[in-house]
Amino acid sequence: MAVDVLLGLQWGDEGKGKIVDVLTPEYDVVARFQGGPNAGHTLEFNGIKHVLHTIPSGIFRDNTINIVGNGVVIDPVTLKKEIDALVKMDVDIRKKLFISRKAHLIIPTHRLLDAASESSKGKEKIGSTLRGIGPTYMDKTGRNGLRVGDIEAKDFLDRYKKLSAKHSEILKHMEFECKLDELEPQWFEGIEEMKKLNLVDSEHIINRYIGEGKKILAEGAQGSLLDIDFGSYPFVTSSNTITAGACTGLGIPPGKINRVFGIFKAYCTRVGSGPFPSELNDATGEQLRKAGNEFGATTGRPRRCGWIDLPALKYAIMINGVTDLIMTKPDVLSGFDKIYACTHYIYEGKKIDFLPYDIVNNEVKPVFEEIKGWRESLTGINAESQFPKELNDYITYLETNLQVPLSIISVGPDRNQTIIRKRF
Ligand code: GDP
Ligand code: IMO
Ligand code: MG
Repeated sequence: MAVDVLLGLQWGDEGKGKIVDVLTPEYDVVARFQGGPNAGHTLEFNGIKHVLHTIPSGIFRDNTINIVGNGVVIDPVTLKKEIDALVKMDVDIRKKLFISRKAHLIIPTHRLLDAASESSKGKEKIGSTLRGIGPTYMDKTGRNGLRVGDIEAKDFLDRYKKLSAKHSEILKHMEFECKLDELEPQWFEGIEEMKKLNLVDSEHIINRYIGEGKKILAEGAQGSLLDIDFGSYPFVTSSNTITAGACTGLGIPPGKINRVFGIFKAYCTRVGSGPFPSELNDATGEQLRKAGNEFGATTGRPRRCGWIDLPALKYAIMINGVTDLIMTKPDVLSGFDKIYACTHYIYEGKKIDFLPYDIVNNEVKPVFEEIKGWRESLTGINAESQFPKELNDYITYLETNLQVPLSIISVGPDRNQTIIRKRF
């Protein structure tokens, strides 16, 4: 039993990057299993703030191998930028970073198709990060995609041109301007950079490590409510963000999954369109956005804010088989006299305590329970014994409702602002 999984239980941006970085010293390998540069995972340490999009969040720690798995989609342009930034910080990419040959490539026209699709949807747009994620996964499942391993093939350029030409035809039909001359040089530079990396059959490496009893942490991107199957479809991303995604996205047998760390904010946020039952479209929502600095790490867009949503969390816990909960950002709630938890929904005139099938076309009204807040700042706390009583009460309330232990509480963005309640 060698693989633990860490993933988001809400609509993304729960603080996955920070916590993976905190947990990395306990692991031999950190591996991303899905998503692509739509992700923005923020790490803070030694006064440095760093955002990763493709590369796993274990990359800053010595002695840990970082793998970008087959389930990930890679944009060579973003990857090169990430690598350049890490090399500047003296991170030994050659030694520590491995990329699956089976990961799919985002090509410039995928990004254009994403933009064309969104603009054709008008008011119904997904609010995509426009990084080409959807079109790339469409080509993967449509069996037309280009994979990382293809860049080593003699006819790679022909294969690229064939796919790109196909996309250009579609873009022409959609009357979407396609200025490839501006995009391709950078993309091919990224491909040249990728050729210098460790391109591997990562499923073999991971399973060898499992056999040797080494510890592996699988890092999720996005959040469970953005999952292609179980999220608020169609306002979702195009991959399986849940625990099962770690199996298909890395080649891990299901029986080898050990702990599942489910991470959530002490409140809730969402970027992009789609239902968000506990959203606050008022001054309190604004206050949360300001206090939590809730702006997207990838696009800079303001995040929509609301209270914690317990039926949605319970659903995510069920789908993922969460064994340990991790809460981030309770420090943002300091100074709120009262906080609230959404415990039920009013749906089709009835009070229900579960996430129903269609929250997109049917109204889901939240029912909130009031909880006493805390005044004290939490950011300097370094032991659980220093928690205000009301925070302890909130933790007990959540554990009682969610029926899973809260093992880690994060009280600020820095690596050190982390309270481990239970060792694993
Ligand atoms: P991810 O996508 O799940 O890795 O999360 P993001 O990096 O997109 O967003 C989380 C944001 O919250 C980042 O700016 C983090 O630096 C910050 N953060 C993480 N944990 C905490 C915390 O406990 N308190 C505060 N105030 N900020 C946090
Ligand atoms: P991390 O890993 C928050 C959202 C987008 C949009 C929808 C589809 O940082 O938590 P896509 O680009 O996949 O076509 O967008 O999903 N989204 C995220 N929201 N955090 C993310 O990643 C996200 N990745 C995608 O805003 O609503
Ligand atoms: Mg993020």
